[in-house]
Amino acid sequence: MASLEDEVADLVFTDPPYFQNRAQNIKGLKNHKDVITEFEFDGFHSEEAYLQFLEDVLRECYRVAKPGASGYLWCGDDFVSYLNRIVTKAGFRFRKVIHWHKTNPFPAIHTRKMFANSMELMVHFSKGSPKTWNHKPVNEMHNFIEAPICMGAERTPHKTQKPLRVCLPYIEISSNPGDLVLDPFMGSGTTALACLKTGRDFIGYELNKDYCQIIEGRFSEFLNTPSLFGGEEPKVIY
Ligand SMILES: C[S@@+](CC[C@H](N)C(=O)[O-])C[C@H]1O[C@@H](n2cnc3c(N)ncnc32)[C@H](O)[C@@H]1O
Repeated sequence: MASLEDEVADLVFTDPPYFQNRAQNIKGLKNHKDVITEFEFDGFHSEEAYLQFLEDVLRECYRVAKPGASGYLWCGDDFVSYLNRIVTKAGFRFRKVIHWHKTNPFPAIHTRKMFANSMELMVHFSKGSPKTWNHKPVNEMHNFIEAPICMGAERTPHKTQKPLRVCLPYIEISSNPGDLVLDPFMGSGTTALACLKTGRDFIGYELNKDYCQIIEGRFSEFLNTPSLFGGEEPKVIY
């Protein structure tokens, strides 16, 4: 991101690592494939190191964002109050926390005596007052969205893939076709795909080469399937 110029992005939409590698120590879950491998890219040594990393990224997002740009940052419920403060320290205005209720979460395990983790949160923030706010029908403008985790044809091998359903509405509300959207943590490329579907330009980063291949696969599937564009041939401009 250091190579990007100042004030080029109209929207930041991202889903960073959640620092949940602590889950690896939970007795009884140790050999559960989904729980362990989900967090393989989450290797921070301490909570402080994790929060400092996110602060550094957010400061860089602030530099790259245009005045009036919105930002959305996914996070787990245990860190949301820290992240509210960090987005503010980075220069942004904190606006609201959005709650995604997963209708099909990983079930609660009896021996852990805890409720199922059926919520993920997203912090909405802005650089000054938001310049774009494409109002949807009133009942879609709540800070609560309900949807299943990725399933079926949409599902890729990326363990923390977000469904398009919980990303697209916010991208449409806070940006316009032709705008530039930034995602510093692409994963399987959900933000990028949402941009491709809705005519936004996109710039993003992903460290893991295997995930980059997933992203390329999703792009080419999309571009080679005109029906996904409502039957129209996609126009790709290089
Ligand atoms: C929570 S996942 C994003 C999932 C994404 N929202 C999706 O729907 O697929 C976070 C991603 O950030 C990547 N990542 C972690 N540190 C990174 C870094 N320093 N630069 C770029 N990507 C990074 C991880 O490899 C992981 O794929």
